[in-house]
Amino acid sequence: MRRRLTAVAAALLVLVTSCSGEAVETPESSARERVEVFSWWTGLGEADGLKAMRALFEKQNPGFTFVDAAVEGGSGDQARALLSSKLQANQPPDTFQGHAGAELQGYITAGKLEPLNFLYDELKLRDAFPPQLVEQISVHGEIYSVPVNIHRSNVLWLNPAVLRAAGVPGAPQTLPQFLEALEKVKATGKVPLAIGPQWTVVHLFESVLLGSLGTKAYNKLWTADGDWNSAAMKRALTDFAAVLAFTGPPQTDWQPAAKQVADGEAAFTVMGDWAYSYFHNPPDGGLGKTSKKDFDWAPSPGTAGTFMWLSDSFTLPRGAPNREGALAWLKVAASKAGQDAFNPLKGSIPARRDADTSLYKDYLAWNQGEWARDQLAGSIQHGVVAGDGWRAAINDAVGIFMENPDVVELQRALVLAAKNSGQ
Ligand code: GAL
Repeated sequence: MRRRLTAVAAALLVLVTSCSGEAVETPESSARERVEVFSWWTGLGEADGLKAMRALFEKQNPGFTFVDAAVEGGSGDQARALLSSKLQANQPPDTFQGHAGAELQGYITAGKLEPLNFLYDELKLRDAFPPQLVEQISVHGEIYSVPVNIHRSNVLWLNPAVLRAAGVPGAPQTLPQFLEALEKVKATGKVPLAIGPQWTVVHLFESVLLGSLGTKAYNKLWTADGDWNSAAMKRALTDFAAVLAFTGPPQTDWQPAAKQVADGEAAFTVMGDWAYSYFHNPPDGGLGKTSKKDFDWAPSPGTAGTFMWLSDSFTLPRGAPNREGALAWLKVAASKAGQDAFNPLKGSIPARRDADTSLYKDYLAWNQGEWARDQLAGSIQHGVVAGDGWRAAINDAVGIFMENPDVVELQRALVLAAKNSGQ
């Protein structure tokens, strides 16, 4: 009897989530099994893609209830902190979004993830993804996640009308041209370069570093031969200081900073291409702006020919409460249909090589061409080249620099961060 009552009570509960990421129970009936999917895709320009993939998951898996455990905040700064405490307490969500590369390697080394070779065999995924991407999510031949997309970090977003009014002929190609353009915009009284919270400045930092050092030297920084103490690095940090001098008041997240550009209050922002879906997606999920007219883009100054990449990938945590449900989610995320539902709305291109290219238009079509041609460099802020500890140390150094722009001190802190990185 008691058992039956419990079952009835359970049937009266369906789980939804608040934006703090805590599952909340509501008294609507559902006996289906919950699958908790953890990400930080809650806001405009972020949530549309997840919504589309969720709809496909629900259609294909009527036996499961999707629980959106997304935690608000661009780049997952809040989400990643909460995730880390959940994993430490061995209370993982059923699946979570992590970045391919060093960030994921951290979870793997800590023993938090199950290898997915069996899923790769079953779904023939080894050939579906680029080999260099599979390498980033593998350790000793075991593959640990399902990459759902490729995002680009080094994009300069701009407002053509603000540039015209300032007498800037077009997107600046080099860092000196960029500084010249920023100066001209400043003279008009508009915000030259919009930024959000500290992580968006680290995002800017990685683009300036790449543009100033060049791809080869930037990529070397993350190897045993990386030289953070070089004169070239000092020049790059001096360039960063010069660019930073033109930033506007920090906005609460990347969307309000991008909105300053869309609204013609600011000329530029350097942001990943999730900004494209924010500018472009119809109101509800985005700003409904027209590309080339209301906003435009170019590789961030000095980085043409290089694609600074990152990839969102989903995992199977050890001890996932609903392992079967998590696998059902991973199957959708890995599929051509899943990736083609998600990416056109997310502003990213599919990780799969066999996706339907005709679905990727405008910025996305341009970016697909770049991905096929460009050299590659990995993002710092979005988990590719530096593990969480190193990334946090770089964040701290940049944060201190924002208060006190002392290049020598920043270089000293970065040298130390590299030395202590353990990578
Ligand atoms: C990145 C993530 C992107 C996007 C962005 C802004 O770290 O990989 O998918 O969500 O943060 O929040």
